[in-house]
Amino acid sequence: MTPSSTTSPSIIAIDGPAASGKSTLGRRLADELGYLFFDTGVMYRAVTWLALQRGVDVNDEAAVTSLAETAQIDVAAPSQEDGRACDVLADGQDITWETRRREVDANVSVVSAYAGVRKALSEQQRRIGKRGRVVMVGRDIGTVVLPEADLKVYLDATADERARRRYDEVRARGENPDYQEILDKVIQRDHIDSTRAVAPLRPAEDAVILDSDRLDADEVFQRVKDLCR
Ligand code: DC
Repeated sequence: MTPSSTTSPSIIAIDGPAASGKSTLGRRLADELGYLFFDTGVMYRAVTWLALQRGVDVNDEAAVTSLAETAQIDVAAPSQEDGRACDVLADGQDITWETRRREVDANVSVVSAYAGVRKALSEQQRRIGKRGRVVMVGRDIGTVVLPEADLKVYLDATADERARRRYDEVRARGENPDYQEILDKVIQRDHIDSTRAVAPLRPAEDAVILDSDRLDADEVFQRVKDLCR
């Protein structure tokens, strides 16, 4: 064990809106501490992809909930070095990159607003998180999934800044995105995530709020590392 891991908080929750830099921070922190990195958003994405693939109407709450309750969704350490943070498996099939498709982006907020879906997935997330030595990233980790987390960070940024980052990412992949369209989608997803009845996006009362508009990725990482000491 490294000296830092003996004194670091065991369960670290990082919440915040889409594209605020949570995954970059969480991945780096998990590497630094030798912890498991668990991005809980991939589970909501996996259920959404399964629904679309099986022809289940995403507006049919009962059908989507039943899918979330019965599908075997697993998150494992990355089996390939192709930029993935982890493997996402649904009923044994590797669907890591499928969960990043545009049609998943467009439908995942609706799916993740369903109470039954959240219950099924939160229980699995909680079981994994309670083992400790974990950095868990999501929207409701500090408030609902693991309110007992030892360190809670809420990483925020304005919609403009987050849309700009998404725009740069998409351009870097060789595509030619429309900035306004990306910004509209960011705003729409924020609205759904933060106004839903169950586990809406909000900082836990005891979360440390960091604004990534004013801090670059290295500065955010340094702040959180300091908090871990
Ligand atoms: O972080 P992300 O973009 O991969 O998240 C995908 C969707 O899942 C997003 O609409 C918010 C939702 N989500 C959630 O409701 N609760 C979580 N703990 C993680 C993600």
